[in-house]
This record gives sequence, structure tokens and C-alpha cells, in this order.
Amino acid sequence: METQLRALQQEALDALEQTRDHASLESFRVTYLGRKGGRLTAILRQLGTASPEERPRLGQLANEIKTEIERCFDQRKEQFATGASGASSPMVDLSLPGRYVPFGSRHPISQVMDEICAIFEGLGFAVAEGPDVETDFYNFEALNLPQHHPARDMHDTFYVTDSILLRTHTSPMQARIMETQDPPLRYISPGKVYRRDSDITHTPMFHQVEGFLVDRDVSFADLKGVLTSFSQRMFERDLALRFRPSFFPFTEPSAEVDIACVICNGTGCRVCKQTGWLEILGSGLIDPAVLVQVGYDPDVYSGFAFGMGVERIAMLKYGIDDIRLYYENDLRFLSQF
Ligand code: PHE
Repeated sequence: METQLRALQQEALDALEQTRDHASLESFRVTYLGRKGGRLTAILRQLGTASPEERPRLGQLANEIKTEIERCFDQRKEQFATGASGASSPMVDLSLPGRYVPFGSRHPISQVMDEICAIFEGLGFAVAEGPDVETDFYNFEALNLPQHHPARDMHDTFYVTDSILLRTHTSPMQARIMETQDPPLRYISPGKVYRRDSDITHTPMFHQVEGFLVDRDVSFADLKGVLTSFSQRMFERDLALRFRPSFFPFTEPSAEVDIACVICNGTGCRVCKQTGWLEILGSGLIDPAVLVQVGYDPDVYSGFAFGMGVERIAMLKYGIDDIRLYYENDLRFLSQF
């Protein structure tokens, strides 16, 4: 029995040397020191079979060995806790190169939207966001688009119920803000809009930034000045701008603004549909009917408004020729921004 005890002591101390982490240390404890089924406990159980003369000596020896293994075990545990487990430890190899952590980046649309907002904030506009799920009232009615108005057809609306819809433009924010505040007002409102439309220049969800200004004596010249100043800052050069007469029920007069197509330099390509121009926004002087609707006196106040397509502007800025690239989540595309 004495031989058995000494052999176990040697084996245990060797095994302890081999432990490499907290998990192997724990399995060592269970194997050698465990109360149920531990190797040492098993030998101690046999003490009863030794002769009465030998029993005290063997008992004392067993206790000494147990204390020794426990002491070494505690020591090893301490080493792991302080990280000083010896030079041969495989736990940390300081010579290995660090693991590569790829950097993410903001989506190009978010970046361009922030940039647009920053330019207008520099011109004194405040930013306000509104709901994507909108009422028929703010999306249409308050903007001089009553039920059955033919211009509603242009919007290819996604309806939730008869009177609730996904907003087809950011213009409802004009009505929402004017309704609760008095002029002078200068606001921009960025956000998502939805239309049932999909091809290389249209996606069913896209982004707009709405802008409007209401004060005394606001004229079309103010609109032109603000938009020209914006496009110079956005594109960092003098791009040709074209104001084309147009119609919106909530502006009068109205103009669509085109920018020279930078994909083909104005010679005509599939993006500008061979025209050399890309429409980037709709605009105009706020229709008196809208001002009356929110309780302003159109003889005192006037204003301009515009709504621009963020995807279009980002396409021009970065020379992207297919709008769908923004929404395919291909990292080869996204990581270029
Ligand atoms: N809301 C219009 C659209 O989405 C754009 C617009 C905004 C036109 C403001 C005039 C004034 O097409």
C-alpha cells in the first residue's frame, strides 16, 4: 500500500505539470482529489484493510501525500490566474501576428445623405425627420392633392389601409412642420420614401431630402441661389444645372432641376436615357393653397420647396451607373466607400 501511495504521488505531480489551462486543471482535481471516485480517496478507503500496527503510519503518510498534492494544485492554479504558467505554455504566443479585423463603413447613401444635410445646415437650415408610414392626409391632401386628383397616379403608392400608406415623398414634412410652427422657417428633412417602381434608375424604396423655406418676400431667385450654392458644394465644381418647367400640385410655379450627366459627360448613356441630363430634384414656390391649408396668409408669406433623390446624387458623385448596386449588399461594392 505504501508503494501504491508513493506511485500515486509521483503520477499526480507529473500530471499536474501537464495541465495547460483551467479546464485541464479541473479535470486533474476530479481525477486525483475528488471526494467521489478520486484516486487518492480510493486508496484511503482501503486503509481499513491494513493491519492495526501499520494503520497509523500509513494513515499519516496518506495525509502527507494528500496535503502535498493539494499544495502543488493550489500553486498551479495561482500560476494560471497570474498568467505565470511557465515559458512552455502554449496559451499566448506573443510572436504571432494580430488577427485581421475588417473595418466596416457607413453605407454610401447614408454618407451622401449626411453630406447633403451638412451643406444645408451650413446655409442655416434645421433638420427634422418624419414617419415612413404616413397618412393620406399629409402625403396628399395637405399638399393640394385631394382624393381622385390625377397627379396621385404619378406616385405608385403602397397602401397600408385606405387612409394609411408608405410615404411616396418627403413632402408631407412640409405640412407637418408648417402646421405647428410660424414663419420664418428653414427646414430640411431626410428619409426613406416608397414607390412601386423598379428598374436601373428606380428602386421601390429610395431616399429623399426635402427642403423648404418660408418667410416674407421669398422668390424663385432665392430657390435658384440656394440650389446652385448646394450643387457647387456637393460636387465641388461648377456643374451645369438646368431648371425645367414642371408641375407639382403643391408648388406654383414648379421646376425640375437636372444636372449634367457625369457618367457620359452629357453625350448620352443608358443612365441619362440618352439625354445628357439627370433629374436630381423637383422644386418650386410653395402653392398658396398649401400655405392656406396650414393657416398662413399667402399675401404675407411665400416660400420655396424642393425634394431631391439621394441615390441619384450619390450616382453622380461616385459615377455609379446602376441604382440597384446600392441594395445588393455586395461587399466588393460597399467597401469602396
Ligand atoms: N415631392 C416631389 C417628388 O417627390 C418633389 C418636390 C418636393 C417637388 C418639393 C416640389 C417641391 O417628386
